[in-house]
Amino acid sequence: MPEWFEEWFGDDYLALYPHRDAADAGQLVQLIERYTRWTGAWRVLDVGCGPGRHAVALDRAGLRPIGLDLSRVLLRRAREVTTAPLVRADMRHLPIRARSMDACLSLFTSFGYFESDAEHARTLAGMAATLKPGGWFVLDFLNAAQVRARVRGETGALEPGERGSRLRRYLSPDQRHVIKEIHLADGRQFKERVRLYDAAELEAMLVAAGISVQHRFGDYQGGALADGEPRALLIGQAA
Ligand SMILES: C[S@@+](CC[C@H](N)C(=O)[O-])C[C@H]1O[C@@H](n2cnc3c(N)ncnc32)[C@H](O)[C@@H]1O
Repeated sequence: MPEWFEEWFGDDYLALYPHRDAADAGQLVQLIERYTRWTGAWRVLDVGCGPGRHAVALDRAGLRPIGLDLSRVLLRRAREVTTAPLVRADMRHLPIRARSMDACLSLFTSFGYFESDAEHARTLAGMAATLKPGGWFVLDFLNAAQVRARVRGETGALEPGERGSRLRRYLSPDQRHVIKEIHLADGRQFKERVRLYDAAELEAMLVAAGISVQHRFGDYQGGALADGEPRALLIGQAA
């Protein structure tokens, strides 16, 4: 049986997240630029690139992005907006030469989808292995503390979403996952299920993968990472 992330990330996903657009991507790319101080011609791997909005912003900033994603539909959308190389692959088995990248990015919660912690740790280690010594790793994940404070344990009522959809978010009984149930207007249903790693757990996995974290932010404006902030954005360097 296919896993949820193999089925959900297509045009319906894009329709439900319209605010995750080029402007939002440009803001995050600017923040990363400020702290990595990248130079033109850096090779930057965007793992889980989706429709290519960050690849467009990276390209504009003079870098050489490479987008990687599992979704054929989203890669087709990316091809409409960028000439960057695009690779269809599962992030758990990256077909990228070790020590070949100047930066590796995982943006807008493109992580936390798998069954086990070991699989997540291996995936981050695989991404880190693509970096040249001194290369930068950027992990932009949801802020688990903020999600736990806002989302209840039990399944509540469906709330209205984009395009006639109805949504409900709840925590798994063991509080380790946040689940979003998506009921589309045409009756189809999907579920997003993301492991709620808190920032310290993410950082520990990065450190185990040889990344030393140097900057921690709670939003795309560069605000400090704190419990009430929306993001856990970690920027670090490979040894
Ligand atoms: C939340 S979306 C974010 C997309 C993009 N980073 C953005 O900000 O627009 C997560 C992305 O991860 C991709 N993805 C999910 N599982 C994957 C896997 N196992 N390997 C590679 N990509 C995957 C999805 O297809 C989707 O494009």
